[in-house]
Amino acid sequence: MRARQRTLLDAAFQWWAGLAPDGNAAAGIIAAFGPPPSRYSMTDASILFSPTTLGDIALANRVVMAPLTRNRAIEGCVPTPLAIEYYRQRASAGLIIAEATQINPLGQGYLNTPGIYSQAQVAGWKAVTDAVHAAGGKIALQLWHVGRISHVSLLPAGEVPVAPSAIGANAQTFTANGMEQVSQPRALRLEEIPQLIADYRTAARNAIGAGFDGVEVHAANGYLIDQFLRDGSNHRTDEYGGSIENRTRLLAEVVGAVAEEIGAGRTGVRLSPVTPANDAHDSNPQPLFERAVERLEAIGGLAFVHVIEGATGGPRDDIPFDYVALKSRFSGPWVVNNGYDKAMAVAALSEGRADAVAFGRPFIANPDLVTRLRLDAPLASFNPDTLYGGGAEGYIDYPPLELSTAG
Ligand SMILES: Cc1cc2nc3c(=O)[nH]c(=O)nc-3n(C[C@H](O)[C@H](O)[C@H](O)COP(=O)(O)O)c2cc1C
Repeated sequence: MRARQRTLLDAAFQWWAGLAPDGNAAAGIIAAFGPPPSRYSMTDASILFSPTTLGDIALANRVVMAPLTRNRAIEGCVPTPLAIEYYRQRASAGLIIAEATQINPLGQGYLNTPGIYSQAQVAGWKAVTDAVHAAGGKIALQLWHVGRISHVSLLPAGEVPVAPSAIGANAQTFTANGMEQVSQPRALRLEEIPQLIADYRTAARNAIGAGFDGVEVHAANGYLIDQFLRDGSNHRTDEYGGSIENRTRLLAEVVGAVAEEIGAGRTGVRLSPVTPANDAHDSNPQPLFERAVERLEAIGGLAFVHVIEGATGGPRDDIPFDYVALKSRFSGPWVVNNGYDKAMAVAALSEGRADAVAFGRPFIANPDLVTRLRLDAPLASFNPDTLYGGGAEGYIDYPPLELSTAG
């Protein structure tokens, strides 16, 4: 019974993707699932499952897995061995962007997040990328420095969080004691910035050494680079603060260094122009982020820009922002995210508003999200109690469709 179900599902993929429908398979599918959707809507939806390239990275489809922090790293901020299975299960995404990963010890802001600055961390990640590649997938690593969104208990002894300016965030973080108010930061000294950029460069080199297909520089969600971008958190009076030109400088320098190190075609960037996440705010985001994207364009040949539209994980339209104008500043691949479902994703791709769509929360309980979207199958919901921290439960035990429906 299960074998027959699987045959029908396989044939259904081919039929729905318009690949090689043969008369008998089609008859079986119609018997099992009812008549197919109209030719128009098939063609329309198939764009989501069509291949594309983001720079040097070839994707089998346009469903990207958004980065998702799961706080399960082991001693030494080494990715948990469970991550091998977790990411392998999700390898049918066109591209996995693995969870935010700190570039150095001061870049950590939450309990048990992985790093990419030690040999043990690189070895841990290598097992993950090998598994994803063996399953036919692609995987990039998100390079992270949290800046002021940290707590002294998570940092090396005697250190406090670093930020563009000594302005505390009205935000909380997850420590060994549960949720705690973030610690008061100190301003990064001008002479510390070259080492910070060098750490991004080394992290990118380590990521490629660990087998990743590329990296995504995390410049979103109120973390360090976003803190430099926005005038709510950046009150500097040197060449990294004040004007838009100065506030976009760190972003341009970090991404430029990473691109030089590993190739622009393997370097992507994540932005979130209007998210209020982690107390991020700016007096005039439209010109700020348009200039930021112009500077990314000037680097030349970047793999992608990945934009969170609206409040991360919340309303998409709480603050007006012209994303079409933003996209017009960049000639390369454009990835969109935040609250997308299949219909929204297909519309964004068909209307030329994106080249790929990143899904975050739907990937948590649906390891085979691509299959489910293709079949319009129901999506499972995740258990909020096992999102952050813990072990296998709520991490690698969400079944794929064929097992959850087999009976
Ligand atoms: C559990 C969880 C962890 C997340 N971790 C990260 C992260 O590490 N880096 C990041 O840029 N965004 C992170 N996000 C935001 C998601 O990547 C995504 O932007 C957000 O969930 C909205 O997309 P969605 O509506 O498809 O879920 C996280 C979100 C969730 C729910």
